[in-house]
Amino acid sequence: MSSGTVIITGAAGFVGSHLTDRFLSDGWRVVGVDNLITGRDENLAHLQGNPSFTLIKADASQDPAGYLPADVQPDLVLHFASPASPPVYQAHPVETYLVNSLGTHFWLEWLREAHPQARFVFASTSEVYGDPEVHPQVESYWGRVNPNGLRSCYDESKRLGETICGVHQRDFGMDVRIVRIFNTYGPRMNPADGRVIPDFIAHILKNEPVVIHGTGDQTRSYCYVSDLVDGIVALATQEGHSGLTVNLGNPEEFTINETAQITFEVAKELGLTISDTLQTTFKPLPSDDPTRRQPDITCARQKLDWFPTVSFRTGLRKTIGAWHSQ
Ligand SMILES: NC(=O)c1ccc[n+]([C@@H]2O[C@H](COP(=O)([O-])OP(=O)(O)OC[C@H]3O[C@@H](n4cnc5c(N)ncnc54)[C@H](O)[C@@H]3O)[C@@H](O)[C@H]2O)c1
Repeated sequence: MSSGTVIITGAAGFVGSHLTDRFLSDGWRVVGVDNLITGRDENLAHLQGNPSFTLIKADASQDPAGYLPADVQPDLVLHFASPASPPVYQAHPVETYLVNSLGTHFWLEWLREAHPQARFVFASTSEVYGDPEVHPQVESYWGRVNPNGLRSCYDESKRLGETICGVHQRDFGMDVRIVRIFNTYGPRMNPADGRVIPDFIAHILKNEPVVIHGTGDQTRSYCYVSDLVDGIVALATQEGHSGLTVNLGNPEEFTINETAQITFEVAKELGLTISDTLQTTFKPLPSDDPTRRQPDITCARQKLDWFPTVSFRTGLRKTIGAWHSQ
């Protein structure tokens, strides 16, 4: 599948807007669906007047038959609408579990009825692994998730979304694929949404102490957004991957303390006017915060011929460099 019409839910968000740019530049017609609960018009402002792009402001947890114009005939649907930052999804728990569960159900039922040949890609998350006992996390690992914890409106609804995908793929013969996204960062992240990289950048650039939860020895791995987009495009457009669930992320692992230090060093290298040393302050670890998170990307390497190419320092340089133009 090299071009056609793609519907991208969550198109005004961080990942969705980069996907929109990529599919447009690859010659697709893109129909974005977004209710702007966490997305921003400015992420798509550069596409105003582009005849290949339409943004429909609607709630992607509702039945698309109720709001999509009849002339939208998708070849591909990327269901990426969902708050993604822990403080934000915890502030919108109902909206979060609805868009990942009922929204996924409505999109797949609508396709089954009206466009059974179309392909569907669901944005799942490394959070389906919860606080894992298996390290790094491989797709066959079922995870260790608290079903009624602070994160469950998100991680359990992503797990149910995966179940709904599996039913439509296995029982109804649809072409459905799942991407489990690990921490991704880059330009257009909302500086105020509380995710670690934009949060650290915002504090460092304002000469404020970076807030570290716990001891800072917990690890994360960070994927630059262009690498993630390459992987999603491969998963969505290559033939023969129906039923595939694949991790996409950068396996290079950093402690939170290292993350803060490297972010500070890159900002310094860019010549920004900031303090001479990194300032930090420590707060208690929120409950259910995973201690380690690192993707096993063997499946993506073997099946999609994909692996990340942007180093953490290079990605940070691009992200901090774009900060003031956002
Ligand atoms: N960025 C990451 O590191 C990461 C990691 C794992 C999974 N994901 C998944 O990728 C997807 C995109 O994440 P992101 O980082 O771009 O988040 P984001 O908050 O920047 O973007 C999400 C977009 O979805 C829209 N949205 C949310 N609920 C909606 C609804 N009911 N109807 C219509 N639009 C709605 C928001 O307005 C926003 O534009 C999400 O599904 C998220 O769970 C992202």
